[in-house]
Amino acid sequence: TVANATGLRTPIVAVLGHVDHGKTTLLDKVRGSAVQEGEAGAITQHIGATAVPLDTIGEMAGELVDPDDFDLPGLLFIDTPGHHSFSTLRSRGGALADIAILVVDVNDGFQPQTLEALDILKRTQTPFVVAANKVDTIPGWKPQEGLPIQQSLDHQSDRAEDRLNEKLYEVIGQMSDNGFSADMYWRVQDFRSNIGVVPLSAMTGEGIPDLLTVMMGLSQRYLKEDMSIDVTGPGAGTVLEVKDEQGFGTTIDIVLYDGTVTGEDTIVVGGKNGPIVTDVRALLHPRPLAEIRTEKHFEKVDSVSAATGIKIAAPDLDDAMAGAPVRVVRDRDVDDVIAEVEAE
Ligand code: GTP
Ligand code: NA
Ligand code: MG
Repeated sequence: TVANATGLRTPIVAVLGHVDHGKTTLLDKVRGSAVQEGEAGAITQHIGATAVPLDTIGEMAGELVDPDDFDLPGLLFIDTPGHHSFSTLRSRGGALADIAILVVDVNDGFQPQTLEALDILKRTQTPFVVAANKVDTIPGWKPQEGLPIQQSLDHQSDRAEDRLNEKLYEVIGQMSDNGFSADMYWRVQDFRSNIGVVPLSAMTGEGIPDLLTVMMGLSQRYLKEDMSIDVTGPGAGTVLEVKDEQGFGTTIDIVLYDGTVTGEDTIVVGGKNGPIVTDVRALLHPRPLAEIRTEKHFEKVDSVSAATGIKIAAPDLDDAMAGAPVRVVRDRDVDDVIAEVEAE
């Protein structure tokens, strides 16, 4: 079995924002899962990764997206923690991103980690949109499960719509205070010079069709050339977590952001006492739409290509470190690859 065999690189979408503004709930809605409910203290503590196939995006976006118009395999969503103590994880998530979603609670507005996330996006020059979340908490709002936002607005009172607009213009103002020109996404022509704001509810799903449409458009328009780079080369990734897995011993969950890994490969992984050189014993792929952070039923695959989340079982991984680089050696000199890992 070969996971992701389209030949095009899957874009990586990082989801960033202040604690409890709804990042995990948003991904739960897209996945049809309940990861958020299982989190201790409702706080995300690790970086997550979820591959969402193009078909699923097409179904959720409804009439707004025709999958035939896109030749990307889907999107790889990276969930990040918003709690202030996890700033390293936010930077790591941001560094992996091709594009990003900045989630802002529309009632709460900009908060310290919203600003921190903006700094990361600025530093990494990552194109992004703002998801103005929790529109269902606007007083008088009548929830419209899963509808595009314009259609939902047709069902809202003038009063509720005015209240939402007030909040949205505050967000646009706060973007401007931070040096970003922003506007409602439907008024944006060029998403690089003007940041699109997408009103939505991760709880009711209204506005999510719009968000997925904008993300697909962003990927297609701005990333296609990068995405069609040869993904058959030796894989490169970052360790998310080092975990014991029943029957496999110590494994690493990684985000593979470039190239391929096969079950026959030798890899070099950054470790506490220097680079670890080891042979892949098993490649364990989460099911489609599964969050790698919580997945229990991995499928053994022969090979995977970027971008994806994958669990790697191999000997000698006990000293591997979260955040460390992973490189596939393939036909290169192993000493060169060790030097590359040491340099990172
Ligand atoms: P961290 O990962 O800890 O930073 O939080 P998060 O941004 O992932 O937020 P999370 O998904 O944990 O949601 C926080 C709380 O807000 C939960 O109680 C959610 O149910 C609630 N919530 C998220 N999105 C919405 C929304 O659109 N509407 C409403 N009413 N509640 C929401
Ligand atoms: Na939370
Ligand atoms: Mg979360």
